[in-house]
Amino acid sequence: KKFKPCDLVIYGALGDLTRRKLLISLYRLENAGLLEPDTRIVGVDRHPGDSAFYIDVAHKSLQQFLNERLDEEVWKRFSSRLNYLQIDLTRMEQYQRLHEVIDQQQRVMVNYFAVAPFLFKNICQGLDQSGILTSKSRMVMEKPIGHNLKSSIEINDEVAKVFGENQVYRIDHYLGKETVLNLLALRFANSIFTTNWNHNTIDHIQITVGEDIGIEGRWEYFDKTGQLRDMLQNHLLQILTFIAMEPPANLEAESIHNEKIKVLKALRPITAKNVDEKTVRGQYSAGYVNRKPVPGYLEEEGANTDSTTETFVALRADIDNWRWADVPFYLRTGKRMHSKRTEIVVYFKRVPHNIFKDSYLRLPPNKLVIHLQPNEGVEIEMLNKVPGIDENLKIQKTKLDLSFSETFKKSRIFGGYEKLVLEAMRGNPTLFLSREEIEQAWTWIDSIQNAWAKSPEKPKPYQAGTWGPIASDLLLDRDGRAWEG
Ligand code: BG6
Repeated sequence: KKFKPCDLVIYGALGDLTRRKLLISLYRLENAGLLEPDTRIVGVDRHPGDSAFYIDVAHKSLQQFLNERLDEEVWKRFSSRLNYLQIDLTRMEQYQRLHEVIDQQQRVMVNYFAVAPFLFKNICQGLDQSGILTSKSRMVMEKPIGHNLKSSIEINDEVAKVFGENQVYRIDHYLGKETVLNLLALRFANSIFTTNWNHNTIDHIQITVGEDIGIEGRWEYFDKTGQLRDMLQNHLLQILTFIAMEPPANLEAESIHNEKIKVLKALRPITAKNVDEKTVRGQYSAGYVNRKPVPGYLEEEGANTDSTTETFVALRADIDNWRWADVPFYLRTGKRMHSKRTEIVVYFKRVPHNIFKDSYLRLPPNKLVIHLQPNEGVEIEMLNKVPGIDENLKIQKTKLDLSFSETFKKSRIFGGYEKLVLEAMRGNPTLFLSREEIEQAWTWIDSIQNAWAKSPEKPKPYQAGTWGPIASDLLLDRDGRAWEG
């Protein structure tokens, strides 16, 4: 299918996100031959400079963050697309400069807001006043969209003054990850799962997003945010909605959004009454990650040593609907954990009676393990008979293992940003979030945050390089369960 080329305008062209992720993704798309030949990339930032300056910035970023050799041919094509405009985003008259490079006849204008949210209003107003937008223009925005429900509504209201909802692309880069999308295929293309995906067969579900990195010099941002808002409000809840939603009628954005919203609405609120039972907060202390000593959260550069911001959270979420009655979803995520590991584990119910007494007292449950990071793949843990002549059948746990990179050797696995930036440029909104979804997610998160504010409990320390505080194990232990691994 032929797509219209675009003018991809990146506000915050010198920022961390652009240099670490966007430029790398765009280069990789170039390498894969997926950028329209006439597409242009326009970096906007307040630092003085011209296109040559920006080409140099892009080159350095690629050298620093691209995990592969820079191909000179590809780079030549890529760098010829780059432009730069110096605009102070708070100065309305400066947005007129966009007219120098934007070509509405030939291309669609895609505005990527890669800046802190307090600037969103300025950019919207600046664009509006410059008269450059058309009904075809799009805007792409990054999380965090707000800090709570109230600020999220404010941001969305400001954006809505200038862009229609169908022009707005809200990114959660987890929705660009191959395995998250594969959840749709697993669930809705395989009858063994479609018929078993409910409280009759599933005991509980675990979602773990462990990071080995700390806060990477982002103290300012992170201390105001915490792990609940930084990771759980968006990435983990997105994974949860993909696992829990009803089958959408088709893959259109609206059908998927509607199903996800229903799940978010059905999340049982966590309140001051049960917050200490259902959630665990942690904060890392000094320890070792990958055999290297690392400082504790309060010893990081720029730290406020009284901070009670959580760097780890584990919680039990319940979805109050027919499908998921009495099936808890346990979610955990933290910084400076033992290793980078993102996985979903679906625990099926145990068989009601064990006739193979020689092997196990109680037969272990079947498990579907979906690995997102570091390697993508799917595993099913089942019980099989051990080969041999034995009057009592001996059975043992075995794995059906599907590693994506092995199985799909010839396919290129795209990174989350690559896929989403491409979809935004192509104008396909399916993998982006609707306003209502984000606001619904905030409603649930706000109730936890408010309950924490009233609770006398503080985050529990956990040593960097571990899987979080002991209380996190107890959260599951109380229900007679344990975290995977
Ligand atoms: C970002 C968070 O959204 O996701 C970061 O702000 C976090 O704190 C990152 O490190 C994790 O992304 P990934 O793709 O490495 O799991």
